[in-house]
Amino acid sequence: MKKIRVNLRKYSYDIQIERGILEQAGERMRQISGAEKAAVITDDTVNALYGDRLEESMKEAGFAVRRISFPAGETSKTLSVLDRVYGELADFGMTRSDLAVTLGGGVPGDLGGFAAATYLRGIPLVQIPTSFLAQIDSSVGGKVAVDLPMGKNLVGSFYQPAGVLIDPDLISSLPVRYLHDGMAEAVKYGCIKSIRLFELLERIQDREEMHRKLEQIIYECCMIKARIVERDEYDLGERMQLNFGHTLGHAAEAFFHYETYTHGEGVAVGMSMVTEMSEKQGLTKPGTAARLETLLKKFELPIHTEAPLEDLLALAEHDKKKRGDDLTLIILSCIGEARPMRMHFADFQKFMKGEMHEGGH
Ligand SMILES: NC(=O)c1ccc[n+]([C@@H]2O[C@H](COP(=O)([O-])OP(=O)(O)OC[C@H]3O[C@@H](n4cnc5c(N)ncnc54)[C@H](O)[C@@H]3O)[C@@H](O)[C@H]2O)c1
Ligand SMILES: [Zn+2]
Repeated sequence: MKKIRVNLRKYSYDIQIERGILEQAGERMRQISGAEKAAVITDDTVNALYGDRLEESMKEAGFAVRRISFPAGETSKTLSVLDRVYGELADFGMTRSDLAVTLGGGVPGDLGGFAAATYLRGIPLVQIPTSFLAQIDSSVGGKVAVDLPMGKNLVGSFYQPAGVLIDPDLISSLPVRYLHDGMAEAVKYGCIKSIRLFELLERIQDREEMHRKLEQIIYECCMIKARIVERDEYDLGERMQLNFGHTLGHAAEAFFHYETYTHGEGVAVGMSMVTEMSEKQGLTKPGTAARLETLLKKFELPIHTEAPLEDLLALAEHDKKKRGDDLTLIILSCIGEARPMRMHFADFQKFMKGEMHEGGH
């Protein structure tokens, strides 16, 4: 078992990573909760695959269990599904000492996490992420949210769980496109913080080896994210580095109405585009973009998009991460080292068109 302590003073908790931990989830939850009741918030796909096994283990540990499930996918991350979840929590008679458990990818994690953050002004939460993306990214860091018709993650909160249980074996049922989707974020962690992780990913020869190394990759990624979150829980500084590739990535996702690219595919395009430009302008060590793109291609991730740059820039302008006229662009100095560049949005446009010269403004 690998354990990562996330140190956030009174909100500190452990991320436990272990193959087969699902079968012992009840027991592990007992170590952190004296709850009588536990509500499992999940989606229909994951529920059908793993709901019974989880419930059994929780019952053995003495929890009364209610399962709350909704259709899989981003279209469920809404206020109306959240409303239904609140209704079920109330109907189950959950009190503030009871436990919410999310079982699923980022959608049940974000929505269930937000329900836990707000129901009765907050009830304890255990996250059991089941997609690769959720295991290395969304279940760590305490951001929980639902979408509005006007945009993604517009209603949310920071809410740290009491524990995160990660079972790498669950990835065996995940469709390969979703595995690669998460891999884009793993590549991102390597790019911004760890050449060691980047090289670990580079050494993977085939799918079988990828599955064998998942536990290690998950550990490395969670460690990087946990350390960043400890230093910047509320996303005011260092945490922005996690947005590497995301400004243009979000734009590419949005350009195709979220129907063409997964999030990771958008991020892969964004990381490639920015790194090509920063390298051309002498801000990044030569050869970095090619090395990055070779790795992304290995995981069947796109590195270019047919969406016109002008349209992507227009969409990026609407990105909620933009504050006023300024934007913090994350660029790589080299693999394993990122740095923020604060610039006016107009300069970002110039930068991406190759009209800006060394040193920024
Ligand atoms: N909170 C954060 O910090 C954060 C970070 C990144 C992404 N997110 C959010 O995460 C969401 C995307 O995450 P996601 O890709 O996990 O979405 P998801 O929850 O929709 O999962 C993707 C698909 O995989 C299926 N699935 C999940 N685990 C499975 C398994 N083990 N076997 C078979 N199928 C499985 C799901 O049913 C779903 O169809 C977005 O809503 C995004 O905004 C949040
Ligand atoms: Zn991301």
